[in-house]
Amino acid sequence: MAQYTDELKEEIRSANDIVDVISQYVTLKRSGRNFFGLCPFHKEKSPSFSVSADRQYFHCFGCHKGGDVFTFISEIEKISFKEALEVLAERAKIDLPVNENPEFSKTKYLKERMYKINAETTIFFHERLYKPLAKIAQDYVKKRKLDNNTLKAFKIGYSGEYNELYKFLKAKGFKDEEILSTGLVNRNDRGEYIDRFRKRLMFPIMDVSGRVIAFGGRKLENNDKIAKYINSNENLVYSKKKHLFALNLAKQSNSKKIILVEGYMDAISLYQRGINNVVASLGTALTEEQGRLLRKYCEQVILSYDSDGAGQEAIMRGLTILENQGCDARVLQMEGAKDPDEYVIKYGSGRFNLLVENAISLVEFKIKMVKNKYNLENSNDKIRFLKEITKILSNVENKIEKEIYIGKISEKYNISKEAIYSEVNKATYGEKVNEKILVKNISRKNKEVEINPTIIKRENMIIYLLINHFKESYEAIATNITIEDFKLEANRFIFEKILESPAEDSEKILQTIANIEDPEIQSHVSEILVTDYGINSIDKCIEDVVNIYNRERLTNRKFEIIKLLENNSSLSREETEKLGNELNSIMIELAKKSRR
Ligand code: CTP
Ligand code: MN
Repeated sequence: MAQYTDELKEEIRSANDIVDVISQYVTLKRSGRNFFGLCPFHKEKSPSFSVSADRQYFHCFGCHKGGDVFTFISEIEKISFKEALEVLAERAKIDLPVNENPEFSKTKYLKERMYKINAETTIFFHERLYKPLAKIAQDYVKKRKLDNNTLKAFKIGYSGEYNELYKFLKAKGFKDEEILSTGLVNRNDRGEYIDRFRKRLMFPIMDVSGRVIAFGGRKLENNDKIAKYINSNENLVYSKKKHLFALNLAKQSNSKKIILVEGYMDAISLYQRGINNVVASLGTALTEEQGRLLRKYCEQVILSYDSDGAGQEAIMRGLTILENQGCDARVLQMEGAKDPDEYVIKYGSGRFNLLVENAISLVEFKIKMVKNKYNLENSNDKIRFLKEITKILSNVENKIEKEIYIGKISEKYNISKEAIYSEVNKATYGEKVNEKILVKNISRKNKEVEINPTIIKRENMIIYLLINHFKESYEAIATNITIEDFKLEANRFIFEKILESPAEDSEKILQTIANIEDPEIQSHVSEILVTDYGINSIDKCIEDVVNIYNRERLTNRKFEIIKLLENNSSLSREETEKLGNELNSIMIELAKKSRR
């Protein structure tokens, strides 16, 4: 096997910055010298995937995948290391010496033949659509109001009968083996070659660069016994979960948003009416690969599923996949038509565009789902509704976004903004919230304990300060906060490590932490590092946190004393007096603190 030289590998490596390459797949957020994001190799909600620009390495603290830019491409594209090298060489426009490997060039050659067959077939079907024998297809196209420009843009066609395509391809000089591998022709038990698509309206499926990789064929007769669509099976050049119909056209619209529809006809119909930024998923629920692909070409995706079609679950899943890719994902709300094709024919593109403008976010969609469960005329229901949406809202990290939602909800459901704010704040920051969440406390016993989320957030922020603003924060924190103050064991553990060997800077701390070989701690740390704690002034922030702990300590002592005094039978007069004095000064201290 021809090997590439180390020099060449280095040239390719240095021409492909790992942060740039990975950014095409994962939304990365800078934190200090590293970048963090959601790991593309395993499902996760909080980011544990980190990329070091300095070292040109990636690592996931969650699933432990890691390596350089070649490893990344080979893992994510599921190709060999060598193929990854070739992909990256192409990306950097570096010429490679001709590959001599016979196996490699054999599949490469077959793929080229398949593309060629698909291209020839597309022309064959398309030209056939204009022939007199295609009357049934022409009538159908008219009925569906497709104009000639559209037929040309999508290269729509009409497939032949029995083995017409096979004969055509043979006459063009393609071998049986090549034709069979495209799936356009099958061989039956008797050894005869028969076209897969017969007398159907044909939609070529193209990849992003416009090469035809597969076909969808719609039936033309009104016959319930045959499938409405048949599509190419997966093959060497086609994987349905990796492609999107019409993306080659949508990317040319250079729009920041892309509308995602379910059907070929929906995409085509919108396109014809000037809405060019539309793609269709290929008869599957949106896959992660498709989500990534979309993210490469736009910032916002508007899910426009059929009104009767996909259930809430499918929409929720689609939105979540897209959000995890860092896409602004929205759902279009359509009434009065079963799908975008019907809608745009009935009401025109202007009104469809309006729906696009008013598409709602995942949060709004969730709120709407909650609303549908309750009757808001009923005050008990309204309270339950408020409770449930509070939970949804408290997970919205962006303050401005949160404010906008609260404004909208207040107006729409006639609940005062203050009431919503107070509930949401209680859930997010409130010190007196009784609600506790069950967290898996990282310890050797691995037992689950209940800890108030506000406390966890506060603790995490302390660790965040120590890592990112070591110089400004270490002294104040080390003198005022003790290990016992930490409730979450992971935080206690990290804090202990930091106290053990107080490093002089953040970089060292990160190193200390990187040496803790516990995956849960690692992912906990990366989560801390990528969270936005909304810190304006570090000093003020430390002061507040220290105050909270001091107050907590005083309050705890206060109750301890009160308890002791209540069961005072065993206390001497002296002791009682001493405790009384201490209680007094605690009360004064606390009063002072709350006045601030
Ligand atoms: N589909 C399929 N096989 C079927 C039905 C549907 O592969 N038997 C896929 C096709 O990709 C189709 C999509 O699912 O485009 C959505 O289905 P549908 O809404 O029924 O298709 P439309 O494109 O809207 O077709 P039409 O308007 O002609 O019914
Ligand atoms: Mn339809």
